[in-house]
Amino acid sequence: MSDDWQLQPYLQEKMQLIDAALDRYLPRPDRLPEVLHQAMRYSVFAGGKRIRPVLMLAACEAVGGDIKTVLPAACALEMVHSYSLIHDDLPAMDDDDFRRGSPTNHKVYGEATAILAGDGLLTEAFILLSNPDIWKGVSVDCSREVIHILAKGAGSRGMVGGQVVDMEAEQKPIDLPTLEFIHTHKTGALILAAVEIGALLGGASDKQRAALCRYAEAAGLAFQIADDILDIVADQSQLGKDVGSDQKRGKATYPALLGLSEARCRANELKRIAFSSLDVFTDSACRPLREIADYIVNRSC
Ligand code: IPE
Ligand code: IPE
Ligand code: MG
Ligand code: MG
Ligand code: MG
Repeated sequence: MSDDWQLQPYLQEKMQLIDAALDRYLPRPDRLPEVLHQAMRYSVFAGGKRIRPVLMLAACEAVGGDIKTVLPAACALEMVHSYSLIHDDLPAMDDDDFRRGSPTNHKVYGEATAILAGDGLLTEAFILLSNPDIWKGVSVDCSREVIHILAKGAGSRGMVGGQVVDMEAEQKPIDLPTLEFIHTHKTGALILAAVEIGALLGGASDKQRAALCRYAEAAGLAFQIADDILDIVADQSQLGKDVGSDQKRGKATYPALLGLSEARCRANELKRIAFSSLDVFTDSACRPLREIADYIVNRSC
């Protein structure tokens, strides 16, 4: 990888691949029931950084794999993430009005359809992953493990579990271990699943896979700390979603518990852990993952 390698073009290129594949895999908007399929597509294509599918592709490439093998799983993971955002914004949860630069799903389609659009996306992810056509050249054991990793990351032992503790902690004093549990589950779990699936399908050795999981755990927690910070310091039009939402709802966040400057220190510490987890790779193999970890902590949206 040359010295003039840059993250932005890399992200753009991968995002285009992912978006084109998502468009192929999602039910067409004119397919009955049209409103449901339109609502599903509305949130998926409203924008979004695609950081989880990009991480999956980058992990696969870091171990010498072919990204074509992971593209369907990357799309499935983005479907699960998009569903989690639709539900996260509902009045019963964070009650937010803006997401990915547009009104939230329930503001446009109503609460019932938004709930069902989320359900539809979650299910669609597993329809895709259980389709034998996407697994040409991949062993049955390996494809089954991919499905297991994603399901575990999404469910009550992962993202959904984190979301429930996040809701329970609203307006309550909480300690750091509980806050870490929330963040590593509601956000970290899907980021870990992304990287682990990328490693697995890329053909990682046990040592490489363990290193990539350590990277993902650190990057995943850092991602949510940065998200907490952005809720305070970001500009709403740039962020594309409501700002100040956490304070309004009395959410458990790193800045609320530790202050902004200590929260920033934690995120940077985690970035260094993510970097050092990549020591088993050559500089050029892990350059994208390294730069993504830096972006996760220093992004402005
Ligand atoms: C937002 O995730 C929800 C969190 C887990 C913090 P992203 O910041 O990745 O949102 P999009 O996908 O870019 O919209
Ligand atoms: C959401 O965390 C995590 C999931 C959607 C699983 P937040 O509630 O902080 O995410 P934003 O800030 O609304 O994107
Ligand atoms: Mg939330
Ligand atoms: Mg939210
Ligand atoms: Mg947030």
